[in-house]
Amino acid sequence: MTRLAGKTALITGAARGIGRAFAEAYIREGAGVAIGDINLEAAEQCAAEIGAAAFAVPLDVTDQQSIDSAVRAVEGKAGGIDILINNAALFDLAPIVDITRDSYDRLFAVNVSGTIFTTQAVARSMIARGKGGRIINMASQAGRRGEALVAIYCATKAAVVSFTQSAGLDLIRHGINVNAIAPGVVDGEHWDHVDSLFAQYENRPLGEKKRLVGEAVPYGRMGRAEDLTGMAVFLASAEAEYIVAQTYNVDGGNWMN
Ligand SMILES: NC(=O)c1ccc[n+]([C@@H]2O[C@H](COP(=O)([O-])OP(=O)(O)OC[C@H]3O[C@@H](n4cnc5c(N)ncnc54)[C@H](O)[C@@H]3O)[C@@H](O)[C@H]2O)c1
Repeated sequence: MTRLAGKTALITGAARGIGRAFAEAYIREGAGVAIGDINLEAAEQCAAEIGAAAFAVPLDVTDQQSIDSAVRAVEGKAGGIDILINNAALFDLAPIVDITRDSYDRLFAVNVSGTIFTTQAVARSMIARGKGGRIINMASQAGRRGEALVAIYCATKAAVVSFTQSAGLDLIRHGINVNAIAPGVVDGEHWDHVDSLFAQYENRPLGEKKRLVGEAVPYGRMGRAEDLTGMAVFLASAEAEYIVAQTYNVDGGNWMN
């Protein structure tokens, strides 16, 4: 299928995990994809592995100059940006009494400021080009409710849900649809890291938290990055034209709203 033929997407944090799966799915649908990541070497390797329609751009979403030059690089290479996925994020875990300002600053800088100011730069570019566009933010079930030990990450993802609503309402007048995806628990390097932090704070053997969260999913297992690609393609496609400011749960039934 080629539901995204002729489109160019910038996906942040796409060198691995869910962002990489999105890049692969978009390319299967006919899009060109800029793999924006702070880990340029991994982004270049990822782009080389997934094919000629992918190219790497250096991008640190916490740095305004880096955001601006990544947008210019994609404009220069492809003529403009049709789709942005704000996917880059960091995770951390600590009881309230142990949270550090450093952890707070790092998570809010990537997950919230990164999403907001990458959206702003890309929205300016889309508005100047006059062809509208699609922006998809990566929220989380963690943004739907608090979790003991996960206060900062949950708060960042609640902010992403809220920002999606405001940006969606503001940018639709320019033909830019802003929506979000809220995954549940998705296996991969991100969750290997989460599991190791739970092992430390809840005194569990490695792998146990993953097993427990997987068993608790109504569908019966943890998600895989590929489980999210259908929603990411749909939200970028012509079929989603009338969808504005929404956050969709794609989580095997973990959260209902
Ligand atoms: N994996 C899950 O269970 C899960 C669940 C809910 C939501 N999410 C969300 O989905 C998205 C992708 O998750 P994932 O599991 O693939 O994560 P991941 O940790 O595997 O990948 C994150 C990518 O972001 C990049 N990155 C980090 N800081 C950056 C920065 N400052 N600028 C640019 N790139 C940066 C990393 O290099 C990495 O390639 C995130 O927004 C995450 O919060 C994941």
